[in-house]
Amino acid sequence: MKYDIKDIALSNEGKLRIEWARMQMPVLNLINKRFEKEKPLKGLRIAACLHVTTETANLMKVLKAGGADVTLCASNPLSTQDNVAASLVKDYEIPVFAITGEDNKTYYEHLHMALDLKPNITMDDGGDLVSTIHKERREVLDDIIAGTEETTTGVIRFKSMEADGVLKYPVIAVNDAKTKHFFDNRYGTGQSTIDGILRATNILLAGKNFVVGGYGWCGRGVAMRAEGMGANVIIVEVDPLKALEATMDGYRVMPISEAARIGDIFVTVTGDVSILRGEHFQAMKDGAIVANSGHFNVEINIPDLEKLAKGKRRIREFVDEYTMADGRKIFLLGEGRLINLAAAEGHPASVMDMSFANQALTAEYIKDHGAELEAKVYSVPEEIDKNIARLKLESMGIKIDTLTQEQDKYLHSWEMGT
Ligand SMILES: NC(=O)c1ccc[n+]([C@@H]2O[C@H](COP(=O)([O-])OP(=O)(O)OC[C@H]3O[C@@H](n4cnc5c(N)ncnc54)[C@H](O)[C@@H]3O)[C@@H](O)[C@H]2O)c1
Repeated sequence: MKYDIKDIALSNEGKLRIEWARMQMPVLNLINKRFEKEKPLKGLRIAACLHVTTETANLMKVLKAGGADVTLCASNPLSTQDNVAASLVKDYEIPVFAITGEDNKTYYEHLHMALDLKPNITMDDGGDLVSTIHKERREVLDDIIAGTEETTTGVIRFKSMEADGVLKYPVIAVNDAKTKHFFDNRYGTGQSTIDGILRATNILLAGKNFVVGGYGWCGRGVAMRAEGMGANVIIVEVDPLKALEATMDGYRVMPISEAARIGDIFVTVTGDVSILRGEHFQAMKDGAIVANSGHFNVEINIPDLEKLAKGKRRIREFVDEYTMADGRKIFLLGEGRLINLAAAEGHPASVMDMSFANQALTAEYIKDHGAELEAKVYSVPEEIDKNIARLKLESMGIKIDTLTQEQDKYLHSWEMGT
């Protein structure tokens, strides 16, 4: 078996961590049980490009239990947990191509190695695997039935490929399932982004001006949790509806040019580019901390920061201190990459349980229905989404009501009124 990881000797530690995560993933465990028996993915080859974390390891195990031949590479150079990669290779015989801190060249070489499997299904997180196939590995297109996409940024990229007529195979937007983004993007990113900032810096959030760029699913979660820690949250938005929502949720809303002057901590989660750039670094207070939790490290314009700084040093493991010409210091966390994965461990297993249940059941759906799909971006079928929510509630011991016959009739008719 071919693989490329940091150190296979780390496997014991990784195995224990994978088991710990598994205990928080009851929905995925139920799917695992059924997959072991029914082997619905038998004969399928799946190449996954996901953050190499304990939760992903459990997804890989489930896909393998379902009969698939799987391979895994990282969807971000900084997010790989090397002990997890080691355990996947040693204990579960799953080939992994990922080393934390790998440079861009190695990152892409690893994507290519994963593609050597000639997958029938691609599982992407951010779109790098699919775009590599379209740009450089078109020979693997023949075997591909369909793909799945885990995050907002990837879905945006594929919709734009579809609009330009260049998308060559169907992709199912796992991100857009309600049991994914309602929970993973909001509660998962919310909690783990704060976790990443605290692990990187150990600062006190209470009383600080905490600026969140983007009030989408992730931004709402980050703002909610920062407020819970006592920070004064300021929202920066371009969408009037989201800005209004943030205002009514009780936050101050202002343009980034104003927020730049008063913020103590900045977090970008927009999926957009250059939210924080030269003019903002010029305006920031001495000691400002900047971090990103959006998919790519382009939300903070690091070349601008590098240009403005007269000095740079790594002051803590995930904290780079930039000294400006006037002596002010600006601290960049995790090289501007997803801070929740760079400095912490990504989302808690309990939310990834639902996201990855969507991935596993969508892979099964592709096996059964992939041939009917065109080269477009599709939603996860609603039955899968609802089923996952039902199973998750059951696993939490929460029961809900069902409509009475009278209520069902009322909700589906128009005759009854005042
Ligand atoms: N860190 C993680 O683990 C994690 C998890 C899920 C998603 N993501 C990533 O986070 C990003 C956001 O995802 P989301 O689901 O919240 O998307 P979303 O579309 O719900 O929200 C993005 C928000 O950013 C706003 N925005 C865009 N450009 C802006 C600008 N210039 N200034 C201010 N606001 C701007 C948009 O109006 C929108 O409200 C994506 O890149 C996604 O892939 C990261």
